[in-house]
Amino acid sequence: MTSPVSYELVDDIGVISVANPPVNALSHAVRQGIHDALAAAQQDASKAVLVICEGRTFIAGADITEFGKPPREPHLPDLCNTIEASSKPVVAAIHGTALGGGLEVALSCHYRCAVPAAKVGLPEVKLGLLPGAGGTQRLPRLIGATPALDMMTSGNPVDAARAASLGLIDQLVDGDLRTAALAWCRELAAKDAPRRKTSELTADSVAEGVLEQYRSTIAKRARGQVAPQKIVDCVEASLTRPFAEGLQIEREKFIECMQSPQSAALRHMFFAEREAAKIQGLSKDSPQRDVNKVGIIGGGTMGSGIAMNFANAGMQVVLLEINDEALARGLAIIDRNYKGGVKRGKLSEDQALACRGRIAGATDYQSLSDADLVIEAVFENLDLKKEVFAKLDATCRQGAILATNTSYQDVDSIAAATKRPRDVIGLHFFSPAHIMKLLEVVRASATADDVLATCMALAKKIRKVPVVSGVCYGFIGNRMLGHYAREAQLCVIEGATPEQVDGAMEDWGMAMGPLAVFDLAGLDVGYKARQGLPEAERGDPRAYRVADALVEMNRLGQKTGAGFYRYDPETRQRSSDPEVQALIEREAAALGVERRELEASEIVDRLLFALVNEGMNILDEGIAQRPGDIDVVYVYGYGFPAWRGGPMHYADAVGLAQVHERIREFERRFGSENWTPAPLLERLASAGMTLADWAKSQVN
Ligand SMILES: NC(=O)c1ccc[n+]([C@@H]2O[C@H](COP(=O)([O-])OP(=O)(O)OC[C@H]3O[C@@H](n4cnc5c(N)ncnc54)[C@H](O)[C@@H]3O)[C@@H](O)[C@H]2O)c1
Repeated sequence: MTSPVSYELVDDIGVISVANPPVNALSHAVRQGIHDALAAAQQDASKAVLVICEGRTFIAGADITEFGKPPREPHLPDLCNTIEASSKPVVAAIHGTALGGGLEVALSCHYRCAVPAAKVGLPEVKLGLLPGAGGTQRLPRLIGATPALDMMTSGNPVDAARAASLGLIDQLVDGDLRTAALAWCRELAAKDAPRRKTSELTADSVAEGVLEQYRSTIAKRARGQVAPQKIVDCVEASLTRPFAEGLQIEREKFIECMQSPQSAALRHMFFAEREAAKIQGLSKDSPQRDVNKVGIIGGGTMGSGIAMNFANAGMQVVLLEINDEALARGLAIIDRNYKGGVKRGKLSEDQALACRGRIAGATDYQSLSDADLVIEAVFENLDLKKEVFAKLDATCRQGAILATNTSYQDVDSIAAATKRPRDVIGLHFFSPAHIMKLLEVVRASATADDVLATCMALAKKIRKVPVVSGVCYGFIGNRMLGHYAREAQLCVIEGATPEQVDGAMEDWGMAMGPLAVFDLAGLDVGYKARQGLPEAERGDPRAYRVADALVEMNRLGQKTGAGFYRYDPETRQRSSDPEVQALIEREAAALGVERRELEASEIVDRLLFALVNEGMNILDEGIAQRPGDIDVVYVYGYGFPAWRGGPMHYADAVGLAQVHERIREFERRFGSENWTPAPLLERLASAGMTLADWAKSQVN
């Protein structure tokens, strides 16, 4: 096999060139190749050595296919030390992105140059890890503790200009990188530039208390996560210990992270997101339809945000409303959102203007006649949606994709309102639609393969994370959420305060507790959804007594300043409300419930295992393609902590036998109406299998 690394002498500069497409990942062969080339360079006439990459980027990180396999020599930390120990100056020439191990290689070179468009970063923390090849020791020595901590604990890359101002990049070069880098190498060689070893620099000391302050900031920003705190430990070592000792500490902490459940969860999410993009039974290169012009029907909360996604991706959008007044309202929401984006530095004023310029308003269906995709986002009412789809059928060109953003309605019935059910699909966005990453792509029974493939690809284009769901009430996310919501509210009726329920879930890691989420979404949303169902299908009536009463008191949540909580009109800060507590106690008494203290662990188990149990049913019915897809839905759509790996991974981590046992206990205590162990859970628990094993067995 030919090596992905080549070495040649260009005049008196030794050039190590990496060509391992697509991103020059640091595979074993690349590490070996650099190692060998460096050894050759020590022996030849070269006066300096250049490390440069072919293709679209410098080394952009580890080779993910080697994850979980036994490491092979040369190990990256050793390679980095070898580079630094070279008897000739080594220069890294960076383009694209130098990430993770790639940046650690660059940090162990004696000099670094980059093109202005390059980015550099150490994203290991996003996988629950820390830079483990000297990065935590070299970066603070090179740029100082605080900027190094910022880069490593956020995992976000910085651009070349910022990297240069930090001293991470020594030279920004214009024009052809190889030519410029070679010229710089010659210059360095001519002046006999010293081999500047990063490991021998001394990091500027930091004022007392800075690291402690940093730890407490991270404890809030990355609540519950261990890797960012371990990064602070390593940086502390870089300030106080010799390099070799610091490396030793980094290695120990790296191994602890590698073996932690948090890293396992984050690595699971990394792969789950990639898997979710694959549709069972459809090849990667299935044909797709062209989509350039998009129509959106309904410019309310969702339609306005959905329109922005497509405009931001460069597509023409028509937003259709019932009349001029409603249209003006919808366009005003869009204007406000763009203004907010500019204010927060998400996009420039010019970019905002250009995106806004792609959105036109309309009030007649004729303006949708040449649209390639139409997304309906009118009120959540099946008859209304059918009416809209019948009109679309009469107006839209043949081959146009007709999508609904419904949260709960039957996409098959909606499709049946047209004579082209093959072109109909569900595209379920999450609120706020221009920000939330998740897109549930609902495959109805007649949806054509090319419609599905087109929508999955489009999701990527508008920077969403798509997950395929089958048709059922609430699809994957909201169907499971119904069970979680039921338990949250039953806990309140049985004796917990809203603060206790939300506090337990937030302490566990949820971005926001369930009752605070209902207040944010609007309690009227669930109320209307329940009213739209026959009584027998509304679920446990005890669960919704308080929420229904709140809606009837016009306490709709944040938008009316009060719901389960009271909200400060300025800061939106929530506070508890004795009126709600009195209401809860009245409702509990009316139901004959004897209230009791609930432990946080009971609240957490009831809410999470309610999710898990329904997730098992969803898998058994084939509504979700695989357990990881459910995890992606929950992490990207419902504020589930990625470092817990989503509900299904969490169930595996707890152990399915234990989850099953706890659900049986709940069945005995609370009755089988709400707690019947899912058949799939029973099967896997008794077979001693994990969901991960099961998922693999399904593929084969
Ligand atoms: N709000 C959420 O969090 C959320 C999340 C995901 C999905 N959804 C779904 O998205 C859809 C829209 O929800 P929303 O929250 O944006 O509602 P909304 O009430 O904010 O907006 C609906 C808009 O549709 C317009 N409309 C009604 N009938 C119309 C018609 N015949 N033609 C054109 N426009 C019409 C209304 O004027 C209104 O502006 C619903 O199906 C809902 O279930 C909502």
